[in-house]
Amino acid sequence: MSLNDTATVVRRADYTLSSFLVDSVELEFDLAPEQTTVRNAMRVRRNPDAVSETSLQLVGEKLKFVSAQIDGVPVDVLIGDSTLTIEDVPDSFELTLTGLCSPSANTTMLGLYVSRGNFFTQCEAEGFRRITWFLDRPDIMSTYTVTLRADKVDYPVLLSNGNLVDHGDLPGGRHYARWQDPFRKPSYLFALVAGKLVALEERIKVRSGGEKLLQVWVEPRDLDKTRHAMDSLIQSIHWDEARFGLELDLDRFMIVAVDDFNMGAMENKGLNIFNTKFVLASPETASDADYANVQAVVGHEYFHNWTGNRVTCRDWFQLSLKEGLTVFRDQEFTAAMMGGDERPAVRALKRIEDVRIMRQVQFGEDSGPMAHSVRPDSYSEISNFYTATVYRKGAEVVRMYQTLLGRDGFRRGMDLYFQRHDGQAVTCDDFRVAMADANGRDFSQFERWYSQAGTPRVAVTTQYDATAKRYSVTLTQSYDDNNATVVGQTHTGPWHIPFAIGLLDPYGADLPLGLDGESAARETTRILELTQTQQTFTFVDVETRPLPSLLRNFSAPVIVEYDYSDDELAFLLEHDSDPFNRWDAGQRLFTRELLALASRAAAGQRLETNEALMGPIRRVVTDTSLAAGLRELMLVLPTETWLAEQMAESDPAAVHAARQFLRKWLATSLKDEWLTTYEDNLTPGAYEPTPAACGRRALKNLALAYLAELDDPSDAVRLADMQYRTANNMTDRSASLGALLNASAGTGIDFGKHALDDFYERFKDDPLVVDKWFALQAMQRGTLQRPTVEIVRTLLSHPAFSLRNPNRARALVFSFCGANPAQFHAADGSGYSLWAEQVVALDALNPQVAARLARMLERWRAYVPALREPMRGALAAVAGQVRSRDVIEVVRKALG
Ligand code: TRP
Ligand code: ZN
Repeated sequence: MSLNDTATVVRRADYTLSSFLVDSVELEFDLAPEQTTVRNAMRVRRNPDAVSETSLQLVGEKLKFVSAQIDGVPVDVLIGDSTLTIEDVPDSFELTLTGLCSPSANTTMLGLYVSRGNFFTQCEAEGFRRITWFLDRPDIMSTYTVTLRADKVDYPVLLSNGNLVDHGDLPGGRHYARWQDPFRKPSYLFALVAGKLVALEERIKVRSGGEKLLQVWVEPRDLDKTRHAMDSLIQSIHWDEARFGLELDLDRFMIVAVDDFNMGAMENKGLNIFNTKFVLASPETASDADYANVQAVVGHEYFHNWTGNRVTCRDWFQLSLKEGLTVFRDQEFTAAMMGGDERPAVRALKRIEDVRIMRQVQFGEDSGPMAHSVRPDSYSEISNFYTATVYRKGAEVVRMYQTLLGRDGFRRGMDLYFQRHDGQAVTCDDFRVAMADANGRDFSQFERWYSQAGTPRVAVTTQYDATAKRYSVTLTQSYDDNNATVVGQTHTGPWHIPFAIGLLDPYGADLPLGLDGESAARETTRILELTQTQQTFTFVDVETRPLPSLLRNFSAPVIVEYDYSDDELAFLLEHDSDPFNRWDAGQRLFTRELLALASRAAAGQRLETNEALMGPIRRVVTDTSLAAGLRELMLVLPTETWLAEQMAESDPAAVHAARQFLRKWLATSLKDEWLTTYEDNLTPGAYEPTPAACGRRALKNLALAYLAELDDPSDAVRLADMQYRTANNMTDRSASLGALLNASAGTGIDFGKHALDDFYERFKDDPLVVDKWFALQAMQRGTLQRPTVEIVRTLLSHPAFSLRNPNRARALVFSFCGANPAQFHAADGSGYSLWAEQVVALDALNPQVAARLARMLERWRAYVPALREPMRGALAAVAGQVRSRDVIEVVRKALG
């Protein structure tokens, strides 16, 4: 590969209106795995608003051309590598194209493909062009009529978007179904499914009175695992009506589960297609996290029906218009379903989880070679831009509107957005302007959240004037200009940052806050609007020197710099009324301690305990007035990945040593507390995925994990053995297995073998659980005698392993490369060799998934010198062997 010649870059600035429009599409499929015939009859006309072209050029990939007609008359076409061109077309005509594709040979899971004998499609972003030639861009919106024909025995169920308008038998044991979608949509929302599937059905009434049919389609063996997805769908429908006044617009709404899927799920109009991982759930097979994920993803895809489908994106640079907004909506939905609208402490559980991902994944992305803004300026392969920045930071940007406008103001903005843009393909600017106009606000500076990459830093200094009783807070914003990618971008000026702040008095109570010039003190949390590079806000009538609680609830996606003492952090951890900031104070304490330990470890110095830390931690462990779930979040140490990123030069080995040292010390010093915590948080009785029960399980299993760190882990082994044998749910079963594996790594005694074997035997027919079996092993601590890379290599040739199934590849390979940093970054480079082999192998099968794996070395420059060279070498080796645009873009930018 030569790094420059293959990459065609698409730029946002180059957007032009399409010269042609497609008003309607009639598709006919003769489905057969080896060769499927697709007949595509389109009503095409010149776009009156665009530059007129004489010839029509469509895109198509991996298709065999059969025939073309205009208004029924055969016409000559020019077939290019991925184009089909017809010269001198009339102003308005019917174009009929017939072509062939081969679903069973398709390993990319884009376009039409076969999974376990059934047909599925995935068209976002540019998969429709693998089904037929088309103007495959999201601003071409058309109505679709779809006829499916297939063998009746092999494919008894035939589904597509919209309403079933006709079906019947055909000669030769075949049958057909015709579907009509009444709503105009872009091609990326087209879908079909055909095969041996069964459905859980439910009929519900929507607010305006209409009756709707809901279906969750799965393979027959999985029907008993669909209840939770159905319940989540019903909750989603009701929540969107109540919170946003948005109603389901189709008579029928279908979810279909598929084993082979590149991402989480897809919002095809009326026919959502899901990775089985985000549909199937039963207490024995799905963990608490799985239950939560099913609910969140079902919500996410359902919410797209309005934010994405009814109002869609003008071009793919606007992806965050639908993804950021829809992630925000699913986060709010989850929080509400947890009971967070009534209980701030419960709401914080969800917020903490989301912020953890932001900081760990998005901040990392933002300081690496793939850094891009929420609305990127260019890409080579759009699939690479379904990122934490577009999704997660995009959701934070949407959340900031709500923080600035309040829930009611945000709702007014949403209402105006739909009033103006229903049925259109629009831009992030259109959304921002709707928010501004509905509330009489000027959000022109806010635009920089969309256009500027990089994570803003806000440095805070404070000053207390005891005589005047004034407390001033100076906020200074900047961004990390060391990042080469970000430097290349235009930073036009400061961001508009909503900065939530509270002030604690010496007893830990919130002060009512009044700013200079205001007549009376107001709330105890104020949103300061930082719009300049530096601004000072002065609070009046402040009787004693307060302690600031900064960026409450993570009110903006920024890094706060403030010189807290350890004692002040401990005070916030104990007293802050903002539960999010209590957690954050604890994390700062831990991070500080762990980074100090890591630098000692890196320098080969002895690691020593810091007794001052123990008081605050013991208080959290024993504070039974705190919800178990919150205590658990407060007691989990920051991950090795996050810690390594905080170092000037990432040193995974030093971070691992530091974190293990602290874990063992916490385990030893608090042994009795952990034992009590374990006993006090059992969840006897039937399994329930409620926040309270999930919190208890999480805390109990954290206690177990700490006990497994002891030099003598016999208590942990005894408890874990019993828990493994008696568990009535997957959370407890897998946590006990994890604890056994961990105790084994610590002692060199194999405590885990029998449970590991039992786990496989018990669940070998359930792919999603077998994935857990692979992942647990890939993420385990290695020992000198047996590094994890060797275990992973052995598992690569396990009969149940296959790189072709994305979930399986993620379970083993991604878990090792992405979630086991100490082992992956082994000094001998063994992890990098494995990574390189797997990227190359995946590149030939599934570029989209390969590129995700490729990204795991993109931050190589941030590591210690001893790792940098082997990492660069592995990247260079991969660069020489890969072919896909997806992987080439990633490695080119990484080596850049
Ligand atoms: N739009 C999907 C979502 O809800 C993302 C998605 C699913 C996707 N499958 C994909 C994107 C395949 C690109 C390719 O987030
Ligand atoms: Zn989405």
